[in-house]
Amino acid sequence: MALLYMADPDMGAHWRNVLAGMMPELDVRLFPDVGNPADIRWVVAWDFRPDFISTLPNLEIIFSTGAGADQFDFSHIPAGIDVVRMIEPGIVEGMVEYAVMGVLALHRDLPAYLGQQRQHLWHPISTRPAAARNIGVMGLGSLGQAVLERLAGFGFPLAGWSRSSRDLPGVETFAGPDHLPAFLERTDILVCLLPLTPETRGIINSRLLGMLRPGASVLNVGRGGHLVADDLVAALDSGALSAAMLDVTEPEPLPQDHPLWSHPRILLTPHIASQTRPETAVLSLSENLRRQAAGEALTGLVTRNRGY
Ligand code: NDP
Ligand code: OXD
Repeated sequence: MALLYMADPDMGAHWRNVLAGMMPELDVRLFPDVGNPADIRWVVAWDFRPDFISTLPNLEIIFSTGAGADQFDFSHIPAGIDVVRMIEPGIVEGMVEYAVMGVLALHRDLPAYLGQQRQHLWHPISTRPAAARNIGVMGLGSLGQAVLERLAGFGFPLAGWSRSSRDLPGVETFAGPDHLPAFLERTDILVCLLPLTPETRGIINSRLLGMLRPGASVLNVGRGGHLVADDLVAALDSGALSAAMLDVTEPEPLPQDHPLWSHPRILLTPHIASQTRPETAVLSLSENLRRQAAGEALTGLVTRNRGY
């Protein structure tokens, strides 16, 4: 009975050390040293070759090293194998920091001031109180909710949109496609924290952007595939949108000549909003192994027909 780690090799050595301290009885192997494939019951991976899973006859669970599971090709994962995404405090804390930074940067006109600095311009823009800047978060899961909780302290009017109805204190909530227009029409800063699924691919397009309040801005921390990049650039160039901050793009990295690199009102970061922390991730992993052994529901189990 062994666990195979098959993401970043340096990180793998770190995971193995932390796991050795916590679960000394667990046989942890680092890819490509699989040993006897029949020993492997659990895989911890960001991604793998589509045909690899069929070489592990006794595999029971694939744990994603990240909060998302959209990188897996489910058509190559037999239905009996559970897929579990990472829910751990390190990812949540990193995302809260980044999203608060992004919302404040957009609220306080940082993209415009960076442009002014490049042109040696000293031109104050009148500030708007937080109470007059409506924030809308798409995706009210572990990350969207944590981000909204922290944003509450700044006094922004908060709203969130999800697939099923949610009741969150201090947050106006909207659910499903029918209520998306009402959510967008009240939003000045749109934060995307959705999973990438067939339903959400390309959701940030010209139609959606056209429903936001005039001069709105966008923070995409979900996946690059949520955004139609040409539609974003057109909305910025027309003045309908004022700025955007993107941590994720499609593809990653962006090709050198991609327009998102050089647009004056786009801030880009290389998919670093949050990163899994081995110290806390192994706690989540070991708790799920305990749950499996006890026949309890796994935390972060992906529901295949929803895609997340
Ligand atoms: P969760 O699965 O906990 O939450 C997903 C939320 O999105 C839920 O509220 C869900 O609705 C909602 N949702 C899903 N599909 C739809 C839909 N079609 N229409 C409306 N709402 C929908 O995910 P997390 O909060 O843990 O993570 C969200 C995403 O953040 C990840 O999938 C990943 O893509 C991204 N991420 C990015 C990182 C980065 O560094 N940039 C780091 C970590 C994650 P409901 O509540 O009804 O289920
Ligand atoms: C994740 C990510 O899904 O880093 O955790 O994007």
